[in-house]
Amino acid sequence: MKTIVAPFLFLILITTTADASAISYREHIKPIFDSQCISCHGESAPEYKAFKLDKSKWKAQNLGPRMDSYTYLVYFTGWPDTGALMRRLDSEKPGNMYQHLGSTEQEREKNLSLFKAWVGGWTLKRFKDITKEEISAIKVVY
Ligand code: HEC
Repeated sequence: MKTIVAPFLFLILITTTADASAISYREHIKPIFDSQCISCHGESAPEYKAFKLDKSKWKAQNLGPRMDSYTYLVYFTGWPDTGALMRRLDSEKPGNMYQHLGSTEQEREKNLSLFKAWVGGWTLKRFKDITKEEISAIKVVY
């Protein structure tokens, strides 16, 4: 029995986790963002360009660039700040955002996989290195 059930369950698991179109901003990403990221990337945070003009001032207040809407957040996926979200989440290096994904390793891994499924074509490349095909693979479903 086990030998029949196990591969079947595995198949359900990959089909449910790999279906990026089922992972949406409204249903999956916003709730994670609102509990894990908004304290530093919410309405009191500056627009990305304003952040860049005076990084040290904002960082001293523990604020990063504002990302608290669908439109703000996708700015950090495809264009113009290509791959920024992916680079910051896909690395456990100190100063990166992976650590904020959850309070346990299990929660961080789970939330990272949701972000990955939401983005679709997960790439760490910057705009100068990315191909048109790779940009098109970024799905970010609303
Ligand atoms: C404790 C505050 C804090 C929390 C919580 C936090 N961040 Fe950040 N984040 C920052 C700061 C400060 C920066 C700017 C760091 C720098 O430029 O060195 C930053 C930078 C970023 C960047 C890079 C923006 C760029 O310059 O291109 C991304 C993307 C990002 N954060 C995403 C997230 C996500 C997603 C979460 C939630 C999982 C999160 N952050 C949680 C403070 C925070």
